[in-house]
Amino acid sequence: MTGVGATALAAAAYETAHTTARTSRPTRRAAAGFPDGFRWGTATSSYQVEGAAQVDGRGPSIWDTFTREPGRIRDGSSGETSVDHYHRYKEDVALMKWIGAQTYRFSIAWPRVFPDGRGKANPKGFDLYDRLVDELLAAGIEPFATLYHWDLPQALQDRGGWESRDTAEAFGDYASHVASKLTDRVRQIFTINEMQTFVEQGHRSGAFAPGLKLDRARLNQVRHHAVLAHGLAVQAVRASGRHGTKVGPAENIATALPAIETVENIRAAELATRELNAPYLTVMMEGRYTDAYLAEAGADAPRFTPQDLKTISSKVDFVGLNVYAPSQYVLTSEAAPGFVEVPLQASHPHMASPWLTLGPEVLYWAPRHAANLWKVKDIFITENGASAADEPAADGTVYDVDRVMYLRNCLMHLQRATDEGVPVRGYFLWSLLDNFEWADGYATRFGIVHVDYATQKRTPKLSASFYREVIARNAPA
Ligand code: FCB
Repeated sequence: MTGVGATALAAAAYETAHTTARTSRPTRRAAAGFPDGFRWGTATSSYQVEGAAQVDGRGPSIWDTFTREPGRIRDGSSGETSVDHYHRYKEDVALMKWIGAQTYRFSIAWPRVFPDGRGKANPKGFDLYDRLVDELLAAGIEPFATLYHWDLPQALQDRGGWESRDTAEAFGDYASHVASKLTDRVRQIFTINEMQTFVEQGHRSGAFAPGLKLDRARLNQVRHHAVLAHGLAVQAVRASGRHGTKVGPAENIATALPAIETVENIRAAELATRELNAPYLTVMMEGRYTDAYLAEAGADAPRFTPQDLKTISSKVDFVGLNVYAPSQYVLTSEAAPGFVEVPLQASHPHMASPWLTLGPEVLYWAPRHAANLWKVKDIFITENGASAADEPAADGTVYDVDRVMYLRNCLMHLQRATDEGVPVRGYFLWSLLDNFEWADGYATRFGIVHVDYATQKRTPKLSASFYREVIARNAPA
C-alpha cells in the first residue's frame, strides 16, 4: 500500500469513527450515573487507624498481642500509633468534607468500651466516638459504625476467644451497650466486618490474630460462633437501640463470576456463590447450613441448635458487601454441583497485594447475586479499593493512576448494577487514609490520602481528586 492510500484510509477511518461517535446512541439507559440519593463515603477500622493503644483506659486486643510476636507482621510494625486518628480525627473529617463524602464507616474498638471484654464498662470508652460522631454530623457526614473489625479484647481470647460460645454472648452484651449509647446519633450499624476473613485467617491459616491453625471441627465451631455473634448483635441493637436504627452485616462475599454471560453460566455462578459462602452469608440469610456444607463437614460439622439458626438469621435491614476481587470464574456443568471452576492463568493481573486480582466486574456480580439469591432489598458496598506502590513524585504528589484505573473500572461495573435495578444504596471506599494493613504492616497502602508515617502529614493522592469528582458527578467520572 502506498503512503497516499494509507493516509486516505486513515482519514476515512477517522471520519467514520468521528461520525459514529457523534451520532450513535448508547444501548443502555443514558449514562446519567448512579441513582439519586446514592451515598458515597470512605471506610476505616479502629485498630488500623486509631493508634492511642494505651490511652483513656483501652484494654489490650488480640492484635496488640499478635503484633508483638516475632515474624507475624511483614515490617515488624503494629497499630500502636498508626495514623493517630484518635487525636487527628478533626483533620480527617475535614479531608472527608473536602472529598465531598456523605458518609463515613468507622469501627468501634471493643477493648476501649470493655477493656476486659465484658463486665465493667470503661467510662472513657466512648470519648473518641462521641467526639468523632459530633464532628461528622457538624460536617454533614452520616456516621455508619461497625461493632467488630477484628480487635477482640485479649481477655476474651484468654478465655477461649471465638472457640468459646461465651465470646458470642459477650459480643451481644457489648452490642447492646453500644446501641444504648450511640444510636441517638448513629442510626446505621454494621455488626461484624468480614467474618470470613477473621475466622479463616485467624483460625485456619494463622496469618492474622490470634494466629491459630485449628483442625476442621474446631474451625467449624469458630465459624458458627461468629455467625451466632452476628445474630445476637442484631437482636441486641433492636432491643437497646433507638427505634428505627438499621442494622446488618458487612461481609466479604466470596463471589463466583460467569466466565461467559449466558443464562446457564449465570445460574452456575449463583450456585457457586451460595456454596462459597455457606458458613457465613448463606446461613445468615437462609437460616440453614447448605446440604453440601454439612455433608462435606461430616463428623466435623458445627454443633448447633435450631434456636441458633433462628438467631443467626435474625432479620437485617441491609447487607454490606466488601468487594475487592472475584473468588473464581465458573462455567455451567451438567454434573453436580452444577458448576465448574475455570482455572485462572498465572498472568492474571493484580494490584500491589497479590490477593487483589483484577476482575472489576465483581462489583456487578456480587450485589446482583446477593439480590437474586437472598432477595436483599438494600445493599451497601461497605469496602472496595486497592493497594498501589504510591511513592510521592518529585513534586510531592502521589500519581496513583493504577488505583484510579482500578476504581473507575469497579465503579463502571457497579453502575451497571444500579442501572439494572440491583438495589445498591451506597459505596464506601477503602480507605480514606493509608493505614496499618494487618500482616502487611505499613508496607501496603490502601489510602486515597497519603500518610507520611514519620510526620503524620496527610496529602490527598490523585485518587482522592478522582473520587471527589465521582461524588460531585454521582457517576464514575
Ligand atoms: C479488608 C479488610 C480491611 C482492609 C482491606 C484491605 O479485608 O476488611 O480491614 O484490610 O481488606
